Amino acid sequence: MKGEILKILRETDGYVSGQDLCDRLEVSRTAVWKVIRQLEQEGYGIDAVRNRGYRLASCPDRLTKEELDACIRGNWAGKTVYHYEETGSTNDRAKELAAAGCPHGTLVTAEEQTAGRGRRGRSWSSPSGTAVYMSLVLRPKLPPASASMVTLVAALAVSAAVKKVTGAESRIKWPNDLVVGNKKICGILTEMSAELDCIHYVVIGIGINTGQKEFPEEISSTATSLFLETGKPVNRCRLVAAVMEELEGYYESYCRAGDLSLLKEEYNRELAGAGGEVRVLSPAGEYTGVSRGIDEEGRLLVDRADGTRECVVSGEVSVRGLYGYV
Ligand code: BTN
Repeated sequence: MKGEILKILRETDGYVSGQDLCDRLEVSRTAVWKVIRQLEQEGYGIDAVRNRGYRLASCPDRLTKEELDACIRGNWAGKTVYHYEETGSTNDRAKELAAAGCPHGTLVTAEEQTAGRGRRGRSWSSPSGTAVYMSLVLRPKLPPASASMVTLVAALAVSAAVKKVTGAESRIKWPNDLVVGNKKICGILTEMSAELDCIHYVVIGIGINTGQKEFPEEISSTATSLFLETGKPVNRCRLVAAVMEELEGYYESYCRAGDLSLLKEEYNRELAGAGGEVRVLSPAGEYTGVSRGIDEEGRLLVDRADGTRECVVSGEVSVRGLYGYV
């Protein structure tokens, strides 16, 4: 009931009467009053005025299941939410839920991760309260070879959501980091369970740096947060909801085409360093060339000095600007 009251308060411009809440939820006045008290204890500012009712004046910057359920309005992405105050890794929780049969679009979030994971076996610093840690379970009806493209789809969605909620202009560092200026604000870790010809599930793990005021020494030259870039606090619930909303649209375009042909142009407009020189570091060696953006399969096209074109596949490869991280 807490979630429903929060949702009604949120959707009401002005006051909603106690009686109205009772009628809509078919509960007593005392039950409504108890929930209002509970919300206040959790940090919500609620104006209660005799003969007018209740009005939501402010929300705490806390991720909770109730807040998320009230904010997320899409058709399937984030329809089912699991929220943890603390967990090892939201990707691990999402994989467990997926293996147990949870629906497409199930979202797992956490206020803090104690074993947050990044790509290539790295850890992902995940302190409490200053960032978004979320993992989404998807069940695309596409061949396993297409799964890596989902990560690029997610990068587009997060970039659009960041713009919508904070106004910050982020760009994509191929394949799926988001940067503002020359520093990273978001990383995406995609994991999959599949057989030869079918995907059981894909988990997209997204970490967005929202409120950090500083970073551990080892990443401080390459990481930044939306707060540091915009000078304004970010409402994390709204950001998660916006990512879900944007993802629905981009994901549906991707599924319709079966590849990135409908999204390629937009992705390339958002791509950092397109047309510039990049260094490609792969297990087979290192070379430089000019980045020409992605093709419809999400491969980065790099023109080498000898006139040959490389189609770089993500995975073990990393691409750097010639003069720095981006
Ligand atoms: C990277 O850039 O290396 C990817 C970082 C991905 C971090 C997110 S935070 C939510 C989800 N849970 C994890 O353990 N990792 C991803």
